[in-house]
Amino acid sequence: TGAFTYDPGFTSTASCESQITYIDGDEGILLHRGYPIEQLAEHGDFLEACYLLLYGDLPTKSQKADFDFRVTRHTMVHEQMSRFFTGFRRDAHPMAVMVGCVGALSAFYHDSTDISDPHQRMVASIRMIAKIPTLAAMAYKYHIGQPFVYPRNNLDFATNFLHMCFAVPCEEYVPNPVLARAMDRIFILHADHEQNASTSTVRLAGSSGANPFACIAAGIACLWGPAHGGANEAALTMLGEIGTVDRIPEYIARAKDKNDPFRLMGFGHRVYKNYDPRAKIMQQTTREVLAELGIKDDPLLDVAMELERIALTDEYFIEKKLYPNVDFYSGITLKALGFPTTMFTVLFAVARTVGWIAQWKEMIEDPHQKIGRPRQLYTGATQRDYVNVEDRK
Ligand code: CMC
Repeated sequence: TGAFTYDPGFTSTASCESQITYIDGDEGILLHRGYPIEQLAEHGDFLEACYLLLYGDLPTKSQKADFDFRVTRHTMVHEQMSRFFTGFRRDAHPMAVMVGCVGALSAFYHDSTDISDPHQRMVASIRMIAKIPTLAAMAYKYHIGQPFVYPRNNLDFATNFLHMCFAVPCEEYVPNPVLARAMDRIFILHADHEQNASTSTVRLAGSSGANPFACIAAGIACLWGPAHGGANEAALTMLGEIGTVDRIPEYIARAKDKNDPFRLMGFGHRVYKNYDPRAKIMQQTTREVLAELGIKDDPLLDVAMELERIALTDEYFIEKKLYPNVDFYSGITLKALGFPTTMFTVLFAVARTVGWIAQWKEMIEDPHQKIGRPRQLYTGATQRDYVNVEDRK
């Protein structure tokens, strides 16, 4: 079998060196380029976090203005892209549409195949941060049968995104700064998370020298699963199914039952064995959004809070160190903002795009970079001779 380390799920294998994100799972600490996520979420905005992840330092005032300008001027997608959308069934899941449409961007940007050119790498990076939100908003509009809304470059990143999603023809779109700030914060919280499954997918795809737009499409495909980015959709669906606080014990019992595949969605994490720091900020953001919208009693929030309270005092969850993760509260916020559950993972993809790109760039620029090629422990048949079809039993 050779001298390989067998590590299914890569629970103890470092696949790369990285200077982007640090996580201390036992302490519940998340740092981007050394800065705590709490400080970035409280004081900064999403494009500043993008700059930080891509360039390694917080921007000066003029660097920030220049970066914001470059991103907001790249938000348009080629008009031909709109025809890709009509090729999808109108009830297609928006994540399926995103996998296809972001992959299709690789056909529009052939110049990005020259990944040895640092300028081209940065142009591709800016294009993706700017255009993937536009595609995400188009996926939403297509999903609900409304006409696409063009980006507005005079709006900030989050406000423009909400505008592309929620503006309707014949009506003035009035941005709400509190909701835009919440959207921006949700993007910050999801921007990067070191070598998670989708980021590792992007790195692996990119390690062959593939077109970066195609690599990001691979990341989106991986993110879709319920054990990863799909958890925000699954968590809200679960809270809805539970419905009322009195039914929580039944679901807790199911989550603990080894013979039942049910898991508490939005709970547990491969790295965090403590409260996910993003979940705390998300809980606060949820409250701000509900207050702004005048929603006094959200039954889903009641169920979530009580579920968390019970789970955190239950021996099973304590012993296995299962805490709420970022996706436990994000769904309630996104629902209050007006998004259907099918869009939740798409919003995660919009935010994670920068993390994927920063990691892709770091990999391409790493002098030790090699094509990713794991080995295996072969457990199949030993060598045998071919038998003609007439003679097979
Ligand atoms: N509910 C009930 N039991 C759980 C849960 C849960 N949510 N998560 C883990 N466990 C149990 C699991 O059954 C196992 O028990 P045992 O050791 O007796 O077999 C133990 O805890 C360890 O679980 P694991 O599956 O071996 O751990 P992992 O590191 O492979 O999985 C996870 C991590 C996030 C996939 C898992 O906790 C899970 O499925 N959570 C629910 C889905 C979810 O919320 N995902 C979002 C993750 S954060 C955002 C993102 O990355 O996209």
